[in-house]
Amino acid sequence: MTNNLPLPLPEKVTIVEVGPRDGLQNEAVPISASDKIALIEQLADAGVSYIESGSFVSPKWVPQMATSAEIFEKLNRQEGVTYAALTPNMRGFEGAMAVNATEVAIFGAASESFSQKNINCSIKESLERFIPIMAAAKKANIKVRGYVSCVVGCPYEGEIEPAQVALVAEQLYKMGCYQISLGDTVGVGTPASVTKMLNAVSACVPVDKLAVHFHDTYGQALTNIYAALQIGIKVVDSAIAGLGGCPYAKGASGNVSTEDVVYMLNGLGIDSGIDFNKLLQAGWFISEKLGKAPISKVSNAYFAQKNTE
Ligand code: HMG
Ligand code: MG
Repeated sequence: MTNNLPLPLPEKVTIVEVGPRDGLQNEAVPISASDKIALIEQLADAGVSYIESGSFVSPKWVPQMATSAEIFEKLNRQEGVTYAALTPNMRGFEGAMAVNATEVAIFGAASESFSQKNINCSIKESLERFIPIMAAAKKANIKVRGYVSCVVGCPYEGEIEPAQVALVAEQLYKMGCYQISLGDTVGVGTPASVTKMLNAVSACVPVDKLAVHFHDTYGQALTNIYAALQIGIKVVDSAIAGLGGCPYAKGASGNVSTEDVVYMLNGLGIDSGIDFNKLLQAGWFISEKLGKAPISKVSNAYFAQKNTE
């Protein structure tokens, strides 16, 4: 289906579902491994083809992720679905490989202060730490995704220069990351600042190697995604039920909810391959486990409508 909008938009968009990792890592209510597995399986059943299912980080730093190995071990996997893990160092990479993660992600930042708070090292040190991971992944034929955090703003440093984001993104790309996810960790971006940043980054990294990752703190995430689609971005990170936040970015709200993104994509005639009703159900499943309603306007609107029918 083609749309009649003024600017070209992609026909297909891949959703990178980060709820089980980025979402849950910042939820205070501990979720059992079996509930996390049920969530991941429901997402795969809804047609989500890429699910970041856990992270191999220090459990002292991020306690909610301590069950990641068990999740990967016990998960019923669907063919064609990528079950990815976040790995900050070689120990994390080895942990992810021991339980057959489909691929891994390394995570750096465009802000020095955030890098220190998040992974306890400078940007330069983080890139050095990633070198052995890249080498081991290449040897094992494992794809590596790269994250850059704080691409528009930083909770400690404020505004971040697009040139600084481009520099870090380019280094991750040159190291061999097949895709760079650009994270507005604090959710302060607007279509203007996001477009400026994407123009700077796409001058150094091909646009078809970029993904966007928006947190919705200031309610700008959907508009920012729309701006990114117009630039040619075809991969969008989002979290079921708008879960989470970031433990090292105080006040940051969760990622944009997958339900809201898929609703927008459906309205634009863009194929995501996702069954919308099954997606809504997965969102309610995990929200009930957390004892709250989904942080998704679309999901709440559907629920309210259903209850008045
Ligand atoms: P460190 O203290 O500098 O490193 O932490 P260390 O080597 O001294 O290790 C400290 C402790 O962690 C030791 O244990 C290690 O054994 C253990 P202890 O001796 O104290 O008992 N350790 C590990 N345990 C399990 N798995 C590992 C591992 N490595 C060391 N892989 C480290 C460095 C990176 C480990 C730490 O800072 C850490 O785990 N940070 C986690 C940060 C994190 O997960 N943040 C959230 C994800 S990033 C994000 O959300 C942003 C993103 O979504 C994009 C966006 O929104 O912008 C991606
Ligand atoms: Mg994030």
